Amino acid sequence: MDQKKTTYVIIGGASGIGEAVAKHVNNGSNIVHVASRTTGLDISDEKAVHRYFESIGPFEHLVVTAGSYAPAGKVIDVAIDDAKKAFDIKFWGAINVAKHAARYMTANGTITLTTGMLSRKVVANTYVKTAINAALEAVTKVLAKELSPIRVNAVSPGLTMTTAYKNMDTPSREAMYENAKRNLPAGKAGTAADIAMAYVMAISNPYMTGSIIDVDGGALVN
Ligand SMILES: NC(=O)c1ccc[n+]([C@@H]2O[C@H](COP(=O)([O-])OP(=O)(O)OC[C@H]3O[C@@H](n4cnc5c(N)ncnc54)[C@H](OP(=O)(O)O)[C@@H]3O)[C@@H](O)[C@H]2O)c1
Repeated sequence: MDQKKTTYVIIGGASGIGEAVAKHVNNGSNIVHVASRTTGLDISDEKAVHRYFESIGPFEHLVVTAGSYAPAGKVIDVAIDDAKKAFDIKFWGAINVAKHAARYMTANGTITLTTGMLSRKVVANTYVKTAINAALEAVTKVLAKELSPIRVNAVSPGLTMTTAYKNMDTPSREAMYENAKRNLPAGKAGTAADIAMAYVMAISNPYMTGSIIDVDGGALVN
């Protein structure tokens, strides 16, 4: 029997959590497009995003995991230009993507954005991540109304062992993971595969929209 293939677009799928989602949905019977700067797409460039979705055409499922960097530091210390650059990628990039993808998405489609536990966990020296993720969580809910019947959700990861931490020195990175293992209720630091399961749920559960799915080892209840 000739079954129509389902198409997935994973923006940020070249590494980390996005790569794990791509592996999950790439079962041989789906079409999976992965894009990031490595493949030539910078999501902070709205015209490039527009052209990208024009080239893809109609599709069902969009996942956005792009943009893991934001400057750390106190509000009084972080250079505003650096904070704005991080917003341009993760926040405005996700908006660019949702805006230009939506017109090509089928009515049974889904958008799953990525936020992060710092949206609601108050930690000093992280205000840029907090603000970007909180803003994206708010827009996720607005998009769920505006784009219905397309379903729109966000996954909010806690500490996850990915290439996001590749620039840390190895002892500090290992100490951070060990600290999570000792202190989180789940007794471990997250893997990209742990987080990917939440995207699969958001994509496959027809009753889920406007939701923020926390997968953080219990960080928010700690
Ligand atoms: N890891 C964690 O502990 C953690 C915790 C909370 C939230 N999160 C969130 O989870 C998401 C995924 O993070 P991750 O841990 O999987 O990090 P990651 O491995 O660094 O993945 C981020 C991806 O974003 C892409 N990217 C960066 N800038 C881009 C741009 N301007 N345009 C297009 N693509 C861009 C990167 O690919 P290129 O370099 O090829 O562009 C990379 O594939 C991020 O939103 C992050 O904030 C992660």
